[in-house]
Amino acid sequence: MKIIHFSDTHIGRDNSPQRLQMLLDDIASLGDPAGHLIIHNGDLNDCGCLDAMQQSRALLDPMADKGWRLMLCPGNHDCGDALHGDPQCAAQFRDHFSSYIFGKQPKQFPVLTLTEDCAPIGLDSNAAEMGFWERWAAEGFLGSNQIAALNTLLDTPAVRQRKVVVYLHHHPFFDAFAVRADVGDGGYFSHLFGWNTRRLRRLKDAYSLMQCLRDRVDILLFGHQHFGLDYSAEGQRYGIPLALDGSSSTATQMDTDRIRYRVVDSVTGKVKTRFVGLPQKRTPSCESVLAESPLIGCFLPVAWFYGFAAFSFFIFSM
Ligand SMILES: [Fe+2]
Ligand SMILES: [Fe+2]
Repeated sequence: MKIIHFSDTHIGRDNSPQRLQMLLDDIASLGDPAGHLIIHNGDLNDCGCLDAMQQSRALLDPMADKGWRLMLCPGNHDCGDALHGDPQCAAQFRDHFSSYIFGKQPKQFPVLTLTEDCAPIGLDSNAAEMGFWERWAAEGFLGSNQIAALNTLLDTPAVRQRKVVVYLHHHPFFDAFAVRADVGDGGYFSHLFGWNTRRLRRLKDAYSLMQCLRDRVDILLFGHQHFGLDYSAEGQRYGIPLALDGSSSTATQMDTDRIRYRVVDSVTGKVKTRFVGLPQKRTPSCESVLAESPLIGCFLPVAWFYGFAAFSFFIFSM
């Protein structure tokens, strides 16, 4: 079985629909739908609004109609936006993409879809982040009920006899994350910002999740961070041979002219990255313009971070 791993397509932002179509065309060119499993790690859409959901569904459905098996888990943008979750958006997303999230399984997480040799298990890393006090910052929170159910599932014979693939949206590792992968040569303030944001974007109950997965999972797939790094070295600390961040396959908020996805061989564990070239380079993004203006590039992220910290302090002290 070959697993196609892509993530964070953010439909609704810029020309992401055209980019997703290019990715899907490239996947279709591989042929052999029965030999592939497509796993999307969430942030399919840029917001939890119906327009974006209809747009992305219209892109995915023709692939499903041609026999491609596509599985999906919800990201924070699918359930709200970058800074908070919205229970109504989350429910709407689950309903709208029910066939891709749950298939023929009961509509609850964790969701297990057995194939001949694989046991993919999907998680909802927004599940426990829908309460008023938990929803801010959209870091992800599985909740103890979901982890307990996962623990039981991992011990079932049908799962243990197969390659176990766990997929979720949020980032589960402690040491390998920051809001920006590299703050460049921006100087003291940029480095201060990078250092101060290392705790953001990591799943709140990542420790419990990793203890649960320890030595029982072959492949761990996630997204959210838009870096696309191979975290297998981190995964191996928990006995997981392969751990991959899907990046943004449509290169949302990334300064690149290539879009991409991975093909993972579930038997050998070999990973190939397929790049699809964009027809022309984008105009410089806001981020790259900032990067070329060191003073602004340093000041704005720090101002944003401390503004947000002050806002959080205000909210939590009410
Ligand atoms: Fe994202
Ligand atoms: Fe995300």
